[in-house]
Amino acid sequence: MPITAITGAASGIGAALSKQLRDAGHTVIGIDRAGSDVTADLSTVDGRQSAVEQVLAASNGVLDHVVLCAGLGVTAPNSGLIVAVNYFGVSELLDGLSEALSKGTNPSAVVVGSVASVQPGANELPMVEAMLSGDFEAAVASANDAANPSQAYAGSKYAVTAYVRRKVHDWAKMGVRVNVLAPGVVETPLYKASTEDPTYGEATKNFVAPLGRGSKPEEAANVIRFLLSDQASFIHGTVLFADGGMDAMIRPGKF
Ligand code: NAI
Repeated sequence: MPITAITGAASGIGAALSKQLRDAGHTVIGIDRAGSDVTADLSTVDGRQSAVEQVLAASNGVLDHVVLCAGLGVTAPNSGLIVAVNYFGVSELLDGLSEALSKGTNPSAVVVGSVASVQPGANELPMVEAMLSGDFEAAVASANDAANPSQAYAGSKYAVTAYVRRKVHDWAKMGVRVNVLAPGVVETPLYKASTEDPTYGEATKNFVAPLGRGSKPEEAANVIRFLLSDQASFIHGTVLFADGGMDAMIRPGKF
């Protein structure tokens, strides 16, 4: 049965996915700040390195799937932390686990992005280039200096999506498929905290998908399981929106 490493496994989408995979008999190695198999703080260089080392030890250096769910929303203490977890907590984990993935059976990975990645201007934020060039210190400094949490969130999700898409050749050479799930609203603690935020709460609550509701974490997990599976064997470098129609609503002519 497949061995899957999942960041952010203690809550929300990551927890729902962990349960679904464990119920199906898969081995799951969860990674989170607390309450999971591997304890690591993905906002720090040392924490990310420790997470990679612990996962490699727990998997004997062979992984079939990796799913990057861990993330911080607009209620995070500062913009730099959002960039640290949402971008470097994905890119450095994937890079560190790539060799183990390349030894897996029909290996694949999924990054949880967001429909926020298509927010106008997200691609032009100065911190985006710092992220994509792998400069952790500069990206965090740029986010803290020049981006409010909403911009940092959108910029981090744009950058992490671009990171995946820029690496399609590298991953393909290793025989590993990598895709991005872009959810809209998912009813998790992250979303609930955003709706209660004094600055962003009203806008968050008013941003409603054409389907008229948010999704359950299990609905996001269902899509991740599809992208990981052999049913998605020719899907690589794709951004799959599972957002109740939000992307189509925001930019109907772009696809
Ligand atoms: P959540 O808050 O329920 O789960 C996120 C998990 O990430 C938590 O268990 C948390 O402890 C972990 N995490 C945060 N910082 C960490 C750190 N420094 N080190 C290790 N783990 C850390 O949130 P949710 O909604 O399940 O989020 C999962 C992903 O989905 C995130 O990347 C989020 O940006 C994305 N997303 C969520 C949406 C929503 O409406 N809930 C919409 C679009 C994307």
